Amino acid sequence: MKLGVLQETYPNERRVALIPALVANYAKLGFEVLVQSGAGAGAFHSDESYQTAGARILPTREAVLEQADVILAVRTAGANPRFEADLPFVRAGQIWIGFMEPLFRPQGVGLLAERGATAFAMELIPRITRAQSMDALSSMATVAGYKAVLLAANLLPSMFPLLMSAAGTVSPARVFVIGAGVAGLQAMATAKRLGAAVSGYDVRPATREQVESVGAKFVEIPLEVAQAETAGGYARALEEETLRRQQDLLGEHLVQHEVIISTAAVPGKHAPMLIPRRVVEAMPAGSVIIDLAAEWGGNCELTQPDEIVQPHGVTIVGAVNLPATVPVDASMLYSRNLYNLVAHLHKVGMLPEPKPDLEDEIARETLVTHKGTIVHSRVMGSLG
Ligand code: NAI
Repeated sequence: MKLGVLQETYPNERRVALIPALVANYAKLGFEVLVQSGAGAGAFHSDESYQTAGARILPTREAVLEQADVILAVRTAGANPRFEADLPFVRAGQIWIGFMEPLFRPQGVGLLAERGATAFAMELIPRITRAQSMDALSSMATVAGYKAVLLAANLLPSMFPLLMSAAGTVSPARVFVIGAGVAGLQAMATAKRLGAAVSGYDVRPATREQVESVGAKFVEIPLEVAQAETAGGYARALEEETLRRQQDLLGEHLVQHEVIISTAAVPGKHAPMLIPRRVVEAMPAGSVIIDLAAEWGGNCELTQPDEIVQPHGVTIVGAVNLPATVPVDASMLYSRNLYNLVAHLHKVGMLPEPKPDLEDEIARETLVTHKGTIVHSRVMGSLG
């Protein structure tokens, strides 16, 4: 079987789905690895380094698409607006694996299905212990949480740590992190390491311990949500009225901080809007908001995806695709997640020939389309 790695086409994407160090692992599984020339350049992996590792370099994207039985991607289908250029080359029975936004923008996987392809979506790896080594959302969120804090520190017109000098005392920056999932906890830990005074909040009360374990102060907001958490450990979307109450109560805390990193998310849904315009207006001028949920509508009312805006002297960064700005480590982590999934699918007999009706939870949850049919019930629901 031939496994193809493409150069990513999403704007400013610098990650690659396979690093040279893992080519030999795929060879052991019986794959011949084909790499589009230049695919690794954004992450500083040359064509020669892939060749030395045993891969074959093909000069064009079309050549890889035409020859490969399995395509490994970082952002494809619904996760890449430029994906449609690849569609004419998608073959029936070809297997695509990557981030695809199957729930939020399911039309992309719909197009893959129309071409008869089989698709596994990395967003749908279940958050269970057995699948931790494949959980690319978590590894990418870790990178994004870290980078969000560095961005904030860079844009803030004051320093993060407490500093006592003969010329006077600099107070620590007050950082508030909304959402204590993977990105949020990493943001809290990073801000803490830079010396800021960090507070964190999440609608799931169970996160208190985790927030405190990274040295941040947990802020409690009395919302009386009966069941904030799903069985899978994710947050539920809140009712309109509860959300409004949350905005008000949260706003009282937010305005006392000069940095907000917002990471609140409910999988497959629009991001909850937690920072309304009135809160931004009440924040001290010079404050910074890094909105990691920008791609899914944003946690702040004034966020513009992939843009930096400055209403009322507050800098709001609509952060999209931060992992691409740390391409070396992000590619290494993502490649390992992807390889661990492929090796697992191989072990349970899903590769080279995937089949629906699966016993295995990881294979069942990630298989979105099978030979042209959408087989994932939640994705079908999103497509209506
Ligand atoms: P996660 O699911 O682990 O964490 C999200 C957290 O938000 C959960 O703890 C959840 O309980 C909380 N939450 C949901 N609704 C809330 C509400 N109304 N109030 C307070 N908390 C609420 O997700 P993860 O992996 O940490 O990612 C966080 C966000 O960052 C997601 O939107 C993700 O897509 C995004 N992200 C953005 C990147 C970028 O470059 N902009 C890169 C990677 C992730």
